[in-house]
Amino acid sequence: MGNINAVVHLEHLEGGQIALIGMDNPPVNALGHALRSGLAAALGQARADRAVKAVILIGTERAFSAGADISEFGKPRQAPGLIDIIDLLDAMEKPVIAALSGQALGGGCELALGCHYRVAAPGARIGLPEVKLGLLPGAGGTQRLPRLAGVERAVHIIVSGDPVAAEQALHDGIIDAVLSGPFRAEAVAFARRVIAAAKPLRRVRDIDEKLAPAKADPKLIDRAAEKLLRRGRGLPAPKACVEAIRAAVSLPFDEGQKREAALFMELLNSPESKAQRHLFFAEREAVKLPDMPGGVKPKRIARAVVIGAGTMGGGIAMSFANFGVPVRIIETDRAALTRGLDRVAENYRIAIARGSLAAPEMERRMALIEGTVDFAAVAEGDVVIEAVFEEMDLKQKLFREIDRLAKPGALLASNTSTLDVTKIAAVTKRPEDVLGMHFFSPANVMRLLEIVRASKTSFEALATAIAIGKQIGKIPAVVGVCDGFVGNRMLARRTTQAEMLLLEGALPWDVDAAVLAFGFPMGPFAMGDLAGLDVGWRIRKARGVKAAISDVLCEAGRFGQKTGSGYYRYEAGSRTPVPDPEVEKIIVETSARLGFKRRTIGAEEITERMTYPMINEGARILEERMAMRASDIDVIWIYGYGWPVGRGGPMFYADQIGLAAIRDRLAHYAQATGEATLKPAALLEKLVAENRGFASLPVQTIAT
Ligand code: 3HC
Repeated sequence: MGNINAVVHLEHLEGGQIALIGMDNPPVNALGHALRSGLAAALGQARADRAVKAVILIGTERAFSAGADISEFGKPRQAPGLIDIIDLLDAMEKPVIAALSGQALGGGCELALGCHYRVAAPGARIGLPEVKLGLLPGAGGTQRLPRLAGVERAVHIIVSGDPVAAEQALHDGIIDAVLSGPFRAEAVAFARRVIAAAKPLRRVRDIDEKLAPAKADPKLIDRAAEKLLRRGRGLPAPKACVEAIRAAVSLPFDEGQKREAALFMELLNSPESKAQRHLFFAEREAVKLPDMPGGVKPKRIARAVVIGAGTMGGGIAMSFANFGVPVRIIETDRAALTRGLDRVAENYRIAIARGSLAAPEMERRMALIEGTVDFAAVAEGDVVIEAVFEEMDLKQKLFREIDRLAKPGALLASNTSTLDVTKIAAVTKRPEDVLGMHFFSPANVMRLLEIVRASKTSFEALATAIAIGKQIGKIPAVVGVCDGFVGNRMLARRTTQAEMLLLEGALPWDVDAAVLAFGFPMGPFAMGDLAGLDVGWRIRKARGVKAAISDVLCEAGRFGQKTGSGYYRYEAGSRTPVPDPEVEKIIVETSARLGFKRRTIGAEEITERMTYPMINEGARILEERMAMRASDIDVIWIYGYGWPVGRGGPMFYADQIGLAAIRDRLAHYAQATGEATLKPAALLEKLVAENRGFASLPVQTIAT
């Protein structure tokens, strides 16, 4: 309990010469109303106290501050605002030192930029990640950071949103010192030195030198931002960040800050930021199980074993190595193992060629990946992940062996994308340790990890899988056992519709164009060509189902990019899909053969049929308790399938459109096409009748 209020305390040190203002608003010192009011009061007292010669602003070991309280956005603002606090700092006539440990992000970083000095603990992370919430730093960050770090670095930090380590921040001129040793005592010693030096106060807003290069060269900002803006895929926030930094260069400080505030308000009210803030909390919720008993702790994972050195197995092994976890890959024969390890090395080499990986880092990672054809190596793993062909018999056979060899208490996971994990677990004597860990291809890149909870999976196993996911930089989401789990089950609905659209009158490039315009990075047909059409063809044949157009293409040997033709054709050595009259002919003939009367299908219908049936399936998934919350489904689609971030995921998007409109369109398409899966789900009907959205549904336990 602090002596200013519950989250802020004020201490007088060094005979009253130093006022230390401590922030302690767990977990990460978000600058909510209580913290802001406490800071205003503490700063007021320190200013009025004549004995105080310097002020230290300090947080906890975990965080100086993670910035504005995101949950307050969209609610009525309560004074004092963050800018009011920073104005108080600007008006201080005694030096204020920000002592940064842990995270100093967003508004937390801006608070520090408002101080006269900044010192940091080694390893502290300093940054302005607002762009990731569809915002820009709205408390002076876009105006002050360029004055300290120069425009080029500021553009990089603000538009990427990626934090920098304390050591880099020192190099950039953002902070004045990295203090090793006991942090608080070192910060006090620094303050003593500041008092002794008695230098004139330096306010960041008054610094101008580092703006000079951009003032002399108005194109410098654009050059610095070009690549980052391309990565921003048309979202408004990255562009607004650049505009605000431009204002820092071209306008006096106060004018620049006004421009920043206006741009911030625009973004705050934008649908994209609303969607991105939804995602921030959704991501963190997706690993919270309402029935998880308190006190369940994940097991420690020091070593992983991956069975299968195919594309998935290799990618999974890379995911572990990338985060420093030693991993064994087991294959049945040496040639397959060598091929797999070569592919891993090749992937790293590509990353080096692209400049995203340093060569010594590749060596370090490769040294963590060790291949073997000895199945007994299963015993080494704290986690064993099976990544072999999708065949139940094969997987059950493997799990019997794994059960025999794995160390007691090891987590046993299958990377199946379709099979019943409960049935896989049932062949072992320890089904409580078994679950699904469904990685997405390419596994070393894609961040989604569906954790499949089988009927006997223990809470400890679930907690461990979640912890592993976080340890290797993934975004885990817990789902239930059903065909395709959450992501692929919904994708199947889209695939059916894509095929139907071709039969009814559209062409692959029409469908892909609409899906691209919606914001996906790729349309379903270009995607199919990339993944290989033969994969689905083989699965369909095994299941006795048909997909008219895709089957005809496969029969003609058109498997996609790998054969130079699929839904598109590809010039030798090129990955650019080129519309192919041959495909149009195949489609038109197949339509006619199956008795379709082709019609012109507009982009609006295509977009609806590429999204609404998935939303409908999402509703069924919730009805069956295969997902805990609608927002978990959003996380899965954004991180696993490239759903555009600015649209917040399918279920969030549905709530924005309005469920009644979606229900009506689905009913219309169900009637027009006779496709049973388009019939509105019971949950959708119920929510419409009650005038509610998916967001209003309470969290539920996964059905097992
Ligand atoms: N506001 C509200 N809640 C926050 C928060 C914030 N800024 N930052 C974190 N939290 C909450 C999380 O929701 C989570 O809550 P939960 O336990 O109930 O799920 C809890 O704090 C812990 O967060 P994490 O699970 O993310 O903890 P980690 O240790 O993994 O990560 C972190 C810590 C790196 C600080 C991460 O939480 C983070 O990136 N936070 C957001 C930082 C950010 O974007 N700041 C900018 C805010 S906007 C702003 O400042 C506007 C200004 O310019 C005007």
